[in-house]
Parts: sequence; structure tokens; C-alpha cells
Amino acid sequence: MTPSLQWIDGQPLSAHYGDVYFSRESGLEETHHVFLNHNRLTERWRKLPRRGSFVIGETGFGTGLNFLCAWQEWERHAPAAARLHFVSCEKHPLSATDLARALGLWPELTDLSQELLQQYRYLFRGWNRLTLAGGRITLTLLIGDVMETLPFCDMTVDAWFLDGFAPAKNPDMWRPDLFQAMARLSAPEATFATFTSAGAVKRGLEEAGFAVEKAKGHGRKREMLCGQLARKPERPWQAPWHASPPPLETGRAAVIGGGIAGAATAAALAERGWEVCLVERHGTLAAEGSGNPQGILYAKLSPPPTPLTRLTLAGYGHTLRLLDGLLPADGQVRAACGVLQLAYDEAEGKRLQALAATDYGEGLMRPVSAAEASELAAIPLRTGGLFFPDGGWIHPPALVAALAENKGIRVLHTAEAIALHQDDSGWHLMGQGGELTQADLVVFAAAGNAAAFDQTSYLPIRGNRGQVTVLPATTASRRLSTVLCGESYIAPPRGMAHTLGATYAPFDGHLGVTASDHETNLSNLNTLAPALYAALETERLDISSLAGRASLRAVAADHLPLVGGIVDAERFNVLYAPLTRDAKRKLNDPAPWRKGLYINAAHGSRGMLTAPIAAELLASQIGGEPLPLPSSLVPAIHPSRFLLRSLIRAKQAGSAVLT
Ligand SMILES: Cc1cc2nc3c(=O)[nH]c(=O)nc-3n(C[C@H](O)[C@H](O)[C@H](O)COP(=O)(O)OP(=O)(O)OC[C@H]3O[C@@H](n4cnc5c(N)ncnc54)[C@H](O)[C@@H]3O)c2cc1C
Ligand SMILES: C[S@@+](CC[C@H](N)C(=O)[O-])C[C@H]1O[C@@H](n2cnc3c(N)ncnc32)[C@H](O)[C@@H]1O
Repeated sequence: MTPSLQWIDGQPLSAHYGDVYFSRESGLEETHHVFLNHNRLTERWRKLPRRGSFVIGETGFGTGLNFLCAWQEWERHAPAAARLHFVSCEKHPLSATDLARALGLWPELTDLSQELLQQYRYLFRGWNRLTLAGGRITLTLLIGDVMETLPFCDMTVDAWFLDGFAPAKNPDMWRPDLFQAMARLSAPEATFATFTSAGAVKRGLEEAGFAVEKAKGHGRKREMLCGQLARKPERPWQAPWHASPPPLETGRAAVIGGGIAGAATAAALAERGWEVCLVERHGTLAAEGSGNPQGILYAKLSPPPTPLTRLTLAGYGHTLRLLDGLLPADGQVRAACGVLQLAYDEAEGKRLQALAATDYGEGLMRPVSAAEASELAAIPLRTGGLFFPDGGWIHPPALVAALAENKGIRVLHTAEAIALHQDDSGWHLMGQGGELTQADLVVFAAAGNAAAFDQTSYLPIRGNRGQVTVLPATTASRRLSTVLCGESYIAPPRGMAHTLGATYAPFDGHLGVTASDHETNLSNLNTLAPALYAALETERLDISSLAGRASLRAVAADHLPLVGGIVDAERFNVLYAPLTRDAKRKLNDPAPWRKGLYINAAHGSRGMLTAPIAAELLASQIGGEPLPLPSSLVPAIHPSRFLLRSLIRAKQAGSAVLT
């Protein structure tokens, strides 16, 4: 994926396309002339409302020069509380080193390029959300061919930067279906600008519905194109049951549940100007599922890009970028020590081999032999597998605390929400002793308990019990220098102890730590890494007095999280009952949303990677912003999916009960 560059007079040129990234005379002036001025950005940004927003779509992120110039102008001309969303497609992302070298050409952009470079990491295939300038700027980098990503964006673009190498050198990109995708994603008044004046581009844009003008090009280029959408294409039918509720104005939000899902949601909302009350039933945050001493950043991917794999991949990059800004890798709250996924049996070996052959992202993982794995772990291992260099472990309570440490968030401890009522002043959150808080927006982030309310009781979430064993480190076990994962996992020690996990069983009503779960964890470790098992001198330990921690994982039937708006389930079943007769019916009635109610829950065994990106998705849906995930993934995690499946199953069973 990484491009091969040539540097001519200090400027980058793509060896593959044989073209320059920007004008040899002055890239900076070209960007201002072509993309900023011919989209009339300054003039439009000055007129934005106080909390307004603006979306730029770009083909070809390249060195990020256009992005940085837009960001700089935004700081100068847009209202202070307004947000700029820059969504850019890139098939061949530059390495961070090349990006730094290219941006080094522009001293006037140094501050911004430094900030970009801090976030320009962990970029994998698909959707990558970078949050800059304290949330004032979001950059969504879509890695892959423009036609694999752009059509799956959920966004409304105000201005297009139609960049990319010259049409003669890159004809594959400048295709009619690209212009049609742009038109579909455009706001009614959307504008575009491009450096080229090629006839095929002009005709393609016109056919897609843009009014196209020729303007004076930059420098030695005689002409360029710019224009505006003149004819909005017919919007293709979209399933209303998979839509997001209409966006909300910022106001008061209540988030129920102070684990990683709740804290990440609260932070994403506070960043967007919501006054958030984070409601937690215990005296401290992270007292349940998110309370283990060590949580592994374990990107369990599958070779076919299933929805869970696409979510995990986007979530992995997102969590890593978030952590860089929040937790030092000091061995206490976080260790960036890498994760080894071991081929513990033949089937897993084949799975990892197939995974190694995917192109999910440069630097994401690499296959290692048993000898290399042993060297990485500093402990003899019997098998090799895949090494994820950016993985590691975190102390989940530290991440939760860091996310909740935001001046827009008020934490209400020892406050168990038991019911919700709505009146003209909004939602009233009730506890045993009366009202806890009032809000315009409520997010259920209470893991398994998220379905314990009248409004959410239709959601099928169950709890799975899991226990970790906390093992005292020995001199020999301290050598372990990376996380080992297989059917179980073990991390290098945090302080005096390793966390060894974890059992997985249906919840039997018991959350006490048991010796039999410790035995399961130890026996799994013995299978995964016998030398480490021996180094831990477990035979000298009294298993019944070993420390550990048991808690619940909240899971939905299909092991994907539940993220999105809450509906009135009874009305949903009546409204969409025709689907029981014909599952392909294109109904148009909007879903019966319960205005202001949302959920972020059911993160199962991988909440460290899925909960923060889910929080970003939810906050983007609530604000009507470009989504940080492909639109094709939204139905897979939509809270209404089970209602819909029951309706369709009722048809398959030949039943008309719901009509
Ligand atoms: C043993 C074990 C090991 C794990 N290991 C890993 C790992 O290595 N890596 C990884 O990524 N994931 C791991 N997970 C999964 C991960 O811990 C979870 O996915 C994640 O913690 C879920 O976060 P959450 O915020 O949804 O839930 P929780 O952290 O459980 O938070 C829910 C919160 O809601 C509160 N609450 C509930 N009801 C109410 C109410 N009515 N009013 C107010 N507050 C309420 C609870 O007190 C709780 O604090 C593990 C899970 C377990 C159980
Ligand atoms: C001229 S450069 C863009 C310059 C960039 N806007 C900047 O500010 O530096 C063109 C970019 O388009 C990318 N590109 C080319 N074809 C593409 C395609 N089909 N899909 C996505 N990106 C593509 C190239 O990899 C390259 O980075």
C-alpha cells in the first residue's frame, strides 16, 4: 500500500504514477488557489452559526497539504465552537517519515503538521478517525481505493477537493462512478474544485449533476475546473430501520454506566459541547467489566473481513490513537509491548496464516516463527504465530478515569438508575431515592443492565461470567516482554503481578472468585506457554488463596455490540409488519425512534477496542456528522437488528402473528 517516492529537489514524486504530489513552483499557493478559493471557503466559513459544522470531501490525501491549509484557514475564519470534518480517501498512504519530510517544506504549517503527525499512526485499511485541535477538527482517512470507500460513507459534503494524480496518469480514479458517488454524497449547495481541466472530468461531473466552470489555473496551468451541484440525484432507497435518528442540538446528556463504554461516550459527547452527567451505581468508576488490572489490546481479526473484523480493525487504530493522548506507556497504566497471537493448534495455525496474507494494513502484524516468537517474548515458546507490534495492555480503570476527566463531564457516583420518564422538559432519570438527573439525551452504557429499562427491554443482551487470575511475578516470569494470546492470555507484570485470563461461562448468578476458574486459567497457560508456566512456579502456590477477579461480559446473540438509537419496539413491529410477508419490501416509514435515547453496550470480550470507536460513532450520529465507520457496518451493530430478524423469521416460519 505504501507508495514508492522519489524526492526531486526535496519534493515528493510518485514513482508508480510518475506524477508530483503538488505543484513544483509552490504547492501551498496552488492549494489556496485551486481548492480553498474556488470552493469559496473563507466566505462560507465566516457565515457559519456559532456551533456550525462543515464537511470537506477529498480524493487523494497524499501529503496532507490540502488538509493542513484548510485547517489553518478554518482556525482563522470559522466560529470558535464550529467543527470542520475533513474526509479524505487514500489508496497509498505515505509513511509517517515521508509525510514528515514532505510537510517539512512548509514552515508556516509546522504547528499543525506536528499535531497531525502525532495522530498519523495506526492507520489500517478502511476507516480511520483522527481527532485534532481538541475536537475542532476531525479527519477521517479512508484507506483503500476511492471506489472501495467513498460510496460507503455516511456524510453530507459541503465542498469537494477533487485531487489525485493527473487524469492522464491515473485514469482509473477519474471515473464516472466517482463523480456519481460525489453527487450522491453532496449537500444541495455543495461545491467542488479541481486542478485539472480535462474534458472527460468536465463531462463526467456534468453528467453526474454538477454545473462546471473553467477558471484560471495555478502557475503554469492554464485552466482548472470548479462548480456547484446543480441537480441532486435521486436518493437511492435506504432501509429506514437501519437509519440513525435525526440529529440533535447539543444540550444535557446523561450516560448510564461508568465503564469504558460509558466513559468513552461521555467524552465523545463532551468534546462536542454536551453537558454530560455520567451516572454510575458504584462508588467508583470501572467497578465491573472494565475493572480488571490489565486489559489486552487484542485485535482478534479473521481473514474474511467480517463486520466484527472491520469494527475491531477500526477500533484498534482508534483506541491506540486515543491512548497516545491519554495514558503514558509507563508499565503501570499501559504497556506498548506488542501482542503475540500464538498458533496453539493446527486450526489456529491455518487461521493465522490466512490472516497474515490479508492486506489489512502495513505494520499491523507480521508472521513469526517459534524461534522469533521466543525471542520477542524472551521466554521459550513452542509455536510461532502473528506479532502485533502496536498492541499491549492497559489498566482499564486508568483509561476510564482519563476519559471521564473532562470539564464537560459530571460524575454521579453511587447512583443506580432504575427507570426513565419523559415529559416536556426531557428525560428524567430515576433512582431509588427519586430523580437522579434530567437530560435531553440518554445513553444506556450499562453493559448487561442496559436492557433493564422499560424502553430497552426488547434488546437481547446476556451476561457471560469471566474470571482473571492475578499471579505473583517471579524473577524468571518477569522476563516476559510481550503479551501472549491464544485461547487464554497472559501479560508481562503490572507491578508485582501478571494478569492471566480469562474463563468464559454463562452467568450462573455467582460473581465470587473460584479456585476451579483459577485452575482453568492455569491449565490454559500451561498449554499456551509451558516454559512460562514453569517459570511462575505455580506448584508452590495455594490455588484457593490466589487473587483474581470475576465480572460479566455483556454479549448480544451475534457477538456484535449494540450501538445506535432506541425505538418503540411495539410500534416498530406494527410499522414494519409487512416484512413478515415480504422481507424485501421497500418500506419508507421512518423508524419509531424514542427521541433522545441511545445505547452503547454489549462489547463482549473486546471492549477496549470496540467501545471507544462505538462512542465516536454514536456521538457522530447524534450530531449528524460524517460517520467514523462505513455505512455498511452500521446495520451489523444497529440495536434494531434483532427486531428486524424476528419479523423476517416470522415470515420464514410461515406465521402472520405480527400482522
Ligand atoms: C474476565 C474478563 C476479561 C476481559 N479481558 C479483556 C481484555 O483483555 N481486552 C478487552 O478488550 N476486553 C476484555 N474484556 C471485556 C471488557 O472488559 C468489556 O468489554 C468492557 O469492560 C465492557 O465495558 P462496558 O463499559 O460496556 O461495561 P462495564 O465496564 O461493565 O460498565 C458498565 C457499568 O454500568 C454500571 N451500571 C449498570 N447498571 C447501572 C444502572 N442501572 N445505573 C447506573 N450504573 C449502572 C455498572 O456498575 C458498570 O460500572 C474482559 C472481560 C472480562 C469479564
Ligand atoms: C496529487 S496527490 C494528492 C495530494 C494531496 N491532496 C496533498 O494535499 O498532498 C494524489 C493522491 O491520490 C492518491 N490516489 C490515487 N489514486 C487513488 C485512488 N484510486 N483511490 C484513492 N487514492 C488515490 C495517491 O496515492 C496520492 O496520494
